[in-house]
Amino acid sequence: MPSSPPSPLAQTTEPGRSPPRAVLFDAYGTLFDVYSVAQLAEELFPGHGQALSVLWRDKQIEYTRLVTTSNHGAHYQPFNVLTRAALVFAIKKLVVGPGTTLSEADLLLEHEPAIEMLLAQYQHLDAFPENLAVLQQLKAKDIPIGILSNGDSAMLQAAVHSAGFDGLLDHIISVDPIRKFKTHPESYALGEQATGLAARDVLFVSCNAWDALGATWYGYTTLWVNRYHLPFEELGTQPTRTGSDLRAVLDFFC
Ligand code: LAC
Repeated sequence: MPSSPPSPLAQTTEPGRSPPRAVLFDAYGTLFDVYSVAQLAEELFPGHGQALSVLWRDKQIEYTRLVTTSNHGAHYQPFNVLTRAALVFAIKKLVVGPGTTLSEADLLLEHEPAIEMLLAQYQHLDAFPENLAVLQQLKAKDIPIGILSNGDSAMLQAAVHSAGFDGLLDHIISVDPIRKFKTHPESYALGEQATGLAARDVLFVSCNAWDALGATWYGYTTLWVNRYHLPFEELGTQPTRTGSDLRAVLDFFC
């Protein structure tokens, strides 16, 4: 009896490629839902919750790029500091507005409790519902798994613990020691160093298209989890595969 033909995906994008030998996940947006803060933001700033969560995230990422690409990293600050700065920016832009007569100090004083509450929530972001089961299944297959994230170590540990991922991850890699955020190649190199594997043998998983692209450019086998039905970046490179939720990781190991 003839054997069944390989799936079209295997034929067209990954001829002869053996399964990855480890999996590294982006953290924020991929394992942890950065937009889950919108509900608390809405309670604190009625009418602004959704927009605030989006602007907060966009500004946070913009700041990581600014400090990585300017003046050889002289303005580097850890992710938790940039996360706070981005939140203050978002509140000033969306909630306070340009017409305020409050001084900078009074403005910050007025919003300090809300800022603290939102930052505390950031330590306990919701994990996407299928994530725990996917990590457990990879673990059951003895596949080394980890996080490679812009987050600093304390933030990542708190988020991992809060999501119930304790004991599942072989690596929790933060870019903080090298003071360069993704998509700097030295940040992606940390994944190779931690796993002892070449990038092409590691599956890098991100919901952030820019991160999936950066990792693909670096040389990783990549999965872009397109949770929000967005177009991929228009820069001429595609991720190895695209999926709609984290379960698509498991398809690499069938
Ligand atoms: C991270 C952010 C960028 O976890 O999502 O690296």
